[in-house]
Amino acid sequence: MKIVTVIGARPQFIKASVVSKAIQETDGLAEVLVHTGQHFDANMSDVFFDQLAIPRPDYQLNISSGSHGDMTGRMLIEIEKVLLQEKPDWVLVYGDTNSTLAGALAAAKLHIPVAHVEAGLRSFNMQMPEEINRILTDQISSVLFCPTDSAVANLEREGFADKLIQVLQVGDVMQDSAELFAPRAIMPVGFSVVDGFILTTLHRAENTDNPQRLAAIVAALNHLHAHLAPVVLPLHPRTRKVIAEQGLTLNVHLIEPVGYLEMLWLLQHTGLVLTDSGGVQKEAFFMGKACVTMRDQTEWVELVEAEANELVGADTDKIIEAATRNLGRAVKDESGLYGGGKAAKRIARILQSVN
Ligand code: UD1
Ligand code: UDP
Repeated sequence: MKIVTVIGARPQFIKASVVSKAIQETDGLAEVLVHTGQHFDANMSDVFFDQLAIPRPDYQLNISSGSHGDMTGRMLIEIEKVLLQEKPDWVLVYGDTNSTLAGALAAAKLHIPVAHVEAGLRSFNMQMPEEINRILTDQISSVLFCPTDSAVANLEREGFADKLIQVLQVGDVMQDSAELFAPRAIMPVGFSVVDGFILTTLHRAENTDNPQRLAAIVAALNHLHAHLAPVVLPLHPRTRKVIAEQGLTLNVHLIEPVGYLEMLWLLQHTGLVLTDSGGVQKEAFFMGKACVTMRDQTEWVELVEAEANELVGADTDKIIEAATRNLGRAVKDESGLYGGGKAAKRIARILQSVN
């Protein structure tokens, strides 16, 4: 059975690292890897292929930047060409990026079944590009691999029980990645900040593209760095551009985006995770660290219920107060919320058995 996998953005490389490995190890499955090019800097793309031994993409489409319509449209055109040539039995997509939607749509229009990893997540905020991408992708998929019970419940509420679409709770492949690679974590080259720092990531469009929200977050980070603990911020290229355009000053410990093994090291040594990332919220939990999330909603609601994660939006005072209260607080993953690191194997086995 031939599977064409479409990936393109940083979190998708990390998810694919474990699923591609499981596909390789499963009899009867062959994978053709398509990289859309959405993320293209060496430290946003190549580093993950090197560190995580992801097979080199069979197709590199080199499509990035531009508006959502422009990027997604160009991807749709080029992915369709690949699918017509490869004639796969399945197309596999991950998450909620423009690469995800383009891959799923190109396949569905050619009547090729789509398998969606990380299906069923919802923020219920249609202003987010990711919410549009994930809702549409779920609708045109044939198999939905959900990471959590809440994702399954979301799909049930949307009427998926009555559709000819398989909804399966397999656990979260990001737990597989974290467990597999954590023992190989490495300190970023030249890193000299002592343990107990605040590890921050910031790239979500709803924060970076809203000048008030961005300014409020920058003010909070500068305050925390000056008064509480060093704020270590591997800066996403989107954020770097906007900070420069807005003339804002970040007085924190800025570093370039790091590889996954370095990121795991930072997670192991941090005193608190302060983020607007989806994946990093869960990685904090896997590493036993409290998380403060600079968003108004999260798709990972079980972490808020378990009091491992707190939502503070983009409010300067709330960010400072929650970071101060949570710094150094350990959390325990006793509940098996994310499937225990076996999701990738489950996915490969299911793909092997469906026709
Ligand atoms: C994308 C996803 C988001 C995901 C994030 C992971 C969409 C709509 N958004 O957001 O869901 O959380 O990836 O990091 O798909 N850029 C570079 N170098 C790179 C990559 C990007 O300079 O290697 C620049 C692009 O030119 C663009 C900006 O960063 O100007 C944003 O990139 P884009 O891929 O559009 O969105 P992300 O914010 O990365
Ligand atoms: N990540 C990384 N280096 C960094 C920042 C993040 O390897 O400098 C990893 C992080 O550990 C997680 C993934 O990238 O596995 C999350 O990606 P991102 O925050 O860009 O996207 P999201 O999860 O919000 O879609």
